[in-house]
Amino acid sequence: MKVLVTGGLGFIGSHTVCELLDANYEVVVIDDLSNSSIDVVDKIKEITGKDFVFYQFDVCNEEKLDEVFSKENIDSVIHFAAYKAVGESVAKPLMYYENNLLTTITLCKVMLKHGVFKFVFSSSATVYGSPKTLPIKEDFLLSTTNPYGTTKLMNEKILEDVCVANDNFSVIILRYFNPIGAHSSGLIGENPTGIPNNLMPYIVRVADGELKELSVFGNDYDTPDGTGVRDYIHVVDLAKGHIKALEKAANTKGTRFYNLGTGHGYSVLDLVETFKRVNNVDVPYKIVGRRPGDIAACYADPTKAYEELGWKATLGIEEMCKDSYNFILKQKNK
Ligand code: UD1
Repeated sequence: MKVLVTGGLGFIGSHTVCELLDANYEVVVIDDLSNSSIDVVDKIKEITGKDFVFYQFDVCNEEKLDEVFSKENIDSVIHFAAYKAVGESVAKPLMYYENNLLTTITLCKVMLKHGVFKFVFSSSATVYGSPKTLPIKEDFLLSTTNPYGTTKLMNEKILEDVCVANDNFSVIILRYFNPIGAHSSGLIGENPTGIPNNLMPYIVRVADGELKELSVFGNDYDTPDGTGVRDYIHVVDLAKGHIKALEKAANTKGTRFYNLGTGHGYSVLDLVETFKRVNNVDVPYKIVGRRPGDIAACYADPTKAYEELGWKATLGIEEMCKDSYNFILKQKNK
């Protein structure tokens, strides 16, 4: 089985490529390096001891994509390539709609032309907007609060329509909760450029002294300690979910949706305190006002993924904190 992974050098993509190679899939990666580094190619090979094919270009380039499908005998596609910064999407909506929709549309056109019908899509819990009840199930009402989230929801709709129009098409849509952690080798992980927007990348930079203190966005939410609650999931567990999704796509037709989360909610302060304890390091923080657009709490009901994909998260919050820090320390000492 040969799998095309778009965005395969990014945070979730690179971990998924490792899991695919470990599971003896042949892998072809396309990545334009717009938010990833070429070093990741060698890191993946070092981790897995296996080789894969890499092409550097933008997936919106239909001609080049067509060449890859003509040359490689691709059986299925996992599509990660997308822009993902919420704040940037508010400032540059057209850039987000153009890139995040055109990548999927171009992929689908070329897949249909070459008779490739198995598609796994990287979606997000952001499509649930501000949920009325918790935990979140896949059949909850969908809504979004920013252009990034809207591109995820629009992609889901596009893929559903493609399935309706093409009986052979099979799409598995994975809605991720909050991926953190890193590969246990410390060789790959999340390393955003500039000042991080997301919580864990910010915490690790405070812990290693690069940033002075964490700003905790609000302690007056209706949650046990007043800070925001999220379902943090280890990126390696998330990556494994893609292997299960591919297996499902191989045996089904139509569109299916799955939450990939642990089912447990942790507050900002839970995460900070666990991080400090397991890494034996200080993380100074101050409480500031709420961040616009944030919700109080969000965590998954992951039952459907367990029942239908046979997937379940196994790594806990302590491993997530340890592996996130280990990755940054290794980066610094390389
Ligand atoms: C956001 C996106 C989500 C995306 C995810 C990527 C929305 C509304 N959210 O999720 O789609 O998939 O990033 O991981 O579209 N916090 C602080 N201080 C900080 C940073 C964050 O207190 O410096 C708090 C936030 O208020 C929140 C929690 O930490 O309660 C998690 O925030 P973050 O890591 O940014 O993720 P989300 O906003 O949940």
